[in-house]
Amino acid sequence: MQLAQKERDMRVFILGGTGSIGTAIVRELRSRSHDVVALCRSEASGEKIRNLGATPYRGDMRTPQAWMNDAIDHDAIIQAAATFTDDMGDVDARVVSALIHASATAKRTLRLLYTGGCWLYGETGDNVATEDWPFDPLPAFAWMVSHAEQLLRAEYLSTAVIHPAMVYSEDGGVFEEFVDAARGGRAIEIWGSPDTRWPIIHRSDLARAYCDLLERPDLTGYFNAGAEQGVRVSDIVKSLADRHGNTLKSLTLGVEDLVERHGDWAKGPTLDQQMSSDKLRQATGWEPKTGDYRLSDLLV
Ligand SMILES: NC(=O)c1ccc[n+]([C@@H]2O[C@H](COP(=O)([O-])OP(=O)(O)OC[C@H]3O[C@@H](n4cnc5c(N)ncnc54)[C@H](OP(=O)(O)O)[C@@H]3O)[C@@H](O)[C@H]2O)c1
Repeated sequence: MQLAQKERDMRVFILGGTGSIGTAIVRELRSRSHDVVALCRSEASGEKIRNLGATPYRGDMRTPQAWMNDAIDHDAIIQAAATFTDDMGDVDARVVSALIHASATAKRTLRLLYTGGCWLYGETGDNVATEDWPFDPLPAFAWMVSHAEQLLRAEYLSTAVIHPAMVYSEDGGVFEEFVDAARGGRAIEIWGSPDTRWPIIHRSDLARAYCDLLERPDLTGYFNAGAEQGVRVSDIVKSLADRHGNTLKSLTLGVEDLVERHGDWAKGPTLDQQMSSDKLRQATGWEPKTGDYRLSDLLV
């Protein structure tokens, strides 16, 4: 069921349309004239969605039975939401099983984009993870691997699972703490080691990757999405120091202390990772458009 790019506008139902990644996806979808309906659990989120030119649909991920039949009545669903609570995997499981059940009952095939993440690959060190790299997820995110597998097997879903790199944005994103510390004259906290490498992507480039894949339902399976395959945290901090007259101090925190303070997910930013997005580039022609992060206004 190959659909040529922009052969027609699509009706898209998105979860997480107000999030860091989701906001950029909604913007990009609207710029391509797709109709967007976004699940919103509050009036404040609904307002944000209206301001992005999309339509809010009141509902909560925790109770998918209340909205799933309306959601599958669209051409596509994008799952870019997460509760980031201790039960985030259980909440996502409810959505996944309701989606598989509803699409099978309706015998209606729809396009699905499901969000994974680079942290599912664990440490890669000097190797570069392609989509064939074995998963080694942090326990806090292990559920994502099995949910993605279930969705890829589902008969009535044309599923692409996107593994975003670490996402930065005009608001900061993964650089937010660094930038806040730099602007506030505080020492920048480096988690783990300054030698840690992060695959990174600006959220507007990531949003274009989601939309390029959305419009190609013949492309199923896993797709990594990163603009730079591995940037050392020390280079990010040095860029900030250069922008701030070389006066910045940094403070390196050990992994055990971080996990004790923040929980298991805190190992994520300490993973030394490199990730390739060649598959996405070759399949869709996608290329990042945001320039070098070192020159971004964000770092000023
Ligand atoms: N950011 C990154 O660097 C990165 C990298 C790789 C993968 N990821 C993955 O990408 C996904 C999105 O991340 P993000 O950084 O964009 O997260 P985020 O900014 O925290 O956004 C989370 C979204 O989920 C929605 N949400 C939370 N609980 C909900 C509920 N009970 N019902 C309905 N909606 C709910 C939020 O809506 P409201 O708050 O408006 O209600 C918001 O739109 C996550 O799975 C994350 O693991 C992120």
